[in-house]
Amino acid sequence: MLNPHQLVGNTNLNSAQIVFLVNRPFVHGHQNTTTSQAILSRPYNSFQRKHKQLQICFINPAANIKAIASATTEEEAEEAKEAEEAKEAEEAKEAEKAKEAEKAIKVKAVVTVQPTVGGFFKNLGIDRGLDDIQDLLGKTLQLELVCADLDPGTGQEKETIKGFAQKKGKEEKGKKRGIKYETTFEVPIDFGKVGAILVQNEHHKEMYVEDIVLDGFPYGPVHVVCNSWIHSKFDNPQKRVFFTTKSYLPWETPSGLWRLRKEELETLRGNGEGERKSFERIYDYDVYNDVGDPDKSWDLRRPVLGGKDRPYPRRCRTGRPPCESDPLSEKRSKRFYVPRDECFSEIKQLTFSAKTLRSVLHTLAPSLGTVMVDKNLGFPYFTAIDSLFSEGVDLPPIGNEGFLRTILPRVVKAITDTGGDVLRFETPEAFNRDKFFWFRDEEFARQTLAGLNPYSIRLITEWPLKSKLDPEIYGPQESGITTEMINQEIGGIMTIDEAMKKKKLFILDYHDLLLPFVKRVRQIKGTTLYGSRTIFFLNPDGTLRPLAIELTRPPMDDKPQWKQVFTPCSWHSTGVWLWRIAKTHVLAHDSGYHQLVSHWLRTHCVTEPYVIATNRQLSVMHPIYRLLHPHFRYTIEINALAREALINAEGTIETCFAPGKYAGEVSSVAYDVEWRFDLQALPADLISRGMAVEDPEAPHGLKLTIEDYPFANDGLLLWDAIKEWVSNYVNHYYPDPSQVESDEELQAWWTEIRTKGHEDKKDEPWWPVLKTSKDLIEIITTIVWVTSGHHAAVNFGQYTYAGYFPNRPTIARTNMPTEDPSEEDWKRFMKKPETALLQCFPSKLQAIRVMAVLDILSNHSPDEEYLGETMEQSWADDPIIKAAFERFNERLKMIEGIIDERNENTQFKNRNGAGTLPYELLKPFSPPGVTGKGVPYSISI
Ligand SMILES: [Fe+2]
Repeated sequence: MLNPHQLVGNTNLNSAQIVFLVNRPFVHGHQNTTTSQAILSRPYNSFQRKHKQLQICFINPAANIKAIASATTEEEAEEAKEAEEAKEAEEAKEAEKAKEAEKAIKVKAVVTVQPTVGGFFKNLGIDRGLDDIQDLLGKTLQLELVCADLDPGTGQEKETIKGFAQKKGKEEKGKKRGIKYETTFEVPIDFGKVGAILVQNEHHKEMYVEDIVLDGFPYGPVHVVCNSWIHSKFDNPQKRVFFTTKSYLPWETPSGLWRLRKEELETLRGNGEGERKSFERIYDYDVYNDVGDPDKSWDLRRPVLGGKDRPYPRRCRTGRPPCESDPLSEKRSKRFYVPRDECFSEIKQLTFSAKTLRSVLHTLAPSLGTVMVDKNLGFPYFTAIDSLFSEGVDLPPIGNEGFLRTILPRVVKAITDTGGDVLRFETPEAFNRDKFFWFRDEEFARQTLAGLNPYSIRLITEWPLKSKLDPEIYGPQESGITTEMINQEIGGIMTIDEAMKKKKLFILDYHDLLLPFVKRVRQIKGTTLYGSRTIFFLNPDGTLRPLAIELTRPPMDDKPQWKQVFTPCSWHSTGVWLWRIAKTHVLAHDSGYHQLVSHWLRTHCVTEPYVIATNRQLSVMHPIYRLLHPHFRYTIEINALAREALINAEGTIETCFAPGKYAGEVSSVAYDVEWRFDLQALPADLISRGMAVEDPEAPHGLKLTIEDYPFANDGLLLWDAIKEWVSNYVNHYYPDPSQVESDEELQAWWTEIRTKGHEDKKDEPWWPVLKTSKDLIEIITTIVWVTSGHHAAVNFGQYTYAGYFPNRPTIARTNMPTEDPSEEDWKRFMKKPETALLQCFPSKLQAIRVMAVLDILSNHSPDEEYLGETMEQSWADDPIIKAAFERFNERLKMIEGIIDERNENTQFKNRNGAGTLPYELLKPFSPPGVTGKGVPYSISI
């Protein structure tokens, strides 16, 4: 009996073939002809093993066949049938399994890369050569998909899925988005969710990768934001890891990513050894020992800032070798290392102000020195100062004609008739509105509340004023400003006792900070210094009135302490001119303090350790890393540039500002004596200066001592908006406040900020503890405020207020005409006091150098990133955070309107008046340029 069966799954056979089970030889056609070859054999299988009496043959039913077959018994046939059915079932199962295993999802990966060398860079002669060939071969970016979870079967990490992304198309001119690299992965359906991508750059040059999007998963596209330089594998074979945008607290980390999270942090911390290379991303700490250049000249040696003797925040370690002449100083180099991703991207460099600043510092400033033969020469007339805005200063050829004009279009212009360049400044807005603004006392006082340095004014709480310095060294501690003097000034209104009680007396106090430097600064040729105190009275209309300036010189050169008090209410010309010159000294002190302390130390410098600690201790997956990251953009880079060419020995700060070469040391003393983390929070800062008291009934919970204090009023709006946003963010990720204490990464981060980044302050009792989400909110809000509101308030008005330097001279170069004058000096002053004032002002070279720098520092680049304007991808991916951010953005827009209204309100005399500049420094948004408004996320200029 024949039992034909359809065959399934044998790919070697025609699907229409039929199987016969036979127990004797089977002949097809004539036995002795070749047609018997038509009978096909089949591999020996389990069925044959069991039924050895049977032979299995296969034939093609289409063929004409003759068969000789003997019948089997019925029992045998039944058995065979059952066995065959079992076999079929087994084979079907196996086939189904194989089919499933073969099922895979096609996932397309698109990598967006910013062109690293092209356009502008090609002009610089940078060639891609080998990398273009590499692109043609398609071997450029190796991507590996990492499963978020461990293999449940083995408990091990799953094998990654590899692919090479190939370049697609060319860069489109004018398009912001860069070149695309693409590949397609076959991802088994049981692979699990992708949690990270490993990237290796097969080019010989680094690449800037913006993001990678994986499309094709049933759960939607996976977005991986990189915004990072990927080093060439020839520089470092280590692959880069990029996680998806979902944030995880340490204990929430998916099992398959835990090792990568840990190892990435170890990579970023480095081993603390060797000199850093430009492509590296290692964050570590070091002291400020590279601002001097003793190998060039022993005069350029500067003491180390950081350590027991001169406390200072830490900077990013570069690991350069020590100087030959001074082992404590690090060798200078052309360009200081900063971790690769802290550098401005190439695209950003083209428009970014930092690049122009570099050009000013490295090209323009030295060229100015060559045009001005007498570097100490001052301005001969006031009209000569005005001519900087109309005629300008001729620049010498620098060898690359037009270069400065391209980089600094605002200040460097072509002279049409000679073809040369001229340095011609834009008229600062304050000067534009009122040419005599700098001259008036009420403007001098107003600017302590609404100017460039609103951080120094404080309430007088003790009377009489007394120094805390050692009288043995610095002379009598008692101030020369007496009760009688004050009573004489405010006598018609109230007594000094009443004024103290009603909180009406305020001070700019640069006495104890500067007096210890006077002797040393006076040894520098062409300058001088005093300690100073300036007293103000709060008028009934809310404006401030300067009452007295005291200038002090300690005992020196065998002379006793010298001090003198100057008052504005003089009806005699000599007194009026002396007051003006005394005011110039105070403004120089305030300019120096502003630049070194309010600006450099309290924003740029103290933030660098936060950036370092955040990168070393918080994984990029950590929600707090993602909250802080936009606030740290480019800060290390701009600070490195400052060490290279701004606060360095004989840099702009040392040569043009009042403390001279002791600038760094002055900021170290301020850090030592004044700086406290807890007082960097705006409300705490205002309270500590007596400018506010806590009041639960008042807006923001604070009652201001001076109600119309524009910086404080606008700052508190911003502070509250930031705090609400930070609170919403922190509370979302830490629903249980105690989780903050058990977050190991977060605790390590805060410990490192206190003990390594601010090591010299590590034992201070005022450091906030970090135990609850409330603590975390206060700490983060403080850091965010410093990098945004605080920095904007002291940075973006620099050209507006100090561009016309008589308003804020950075240095006062001559002694008061009344300090031990020679007969000749006094005669000269009496004959032409204007000349004495002009000689006291900065030299022409100093003034121009500062103006050029301030113009750049005040500039918003076209791609400036303003606080609350753009949302990070990781924030957008979480609906709750997205909603909180949108609320933040709305609040900031409302603040714009509130500030505009305040500036329109004639009751606010400190921001509204004839020729008065409105206070806009804390308006959140701004167009590009020097606008005197706009609050960026981070300190990048
Ligand atoms: Fe700045």
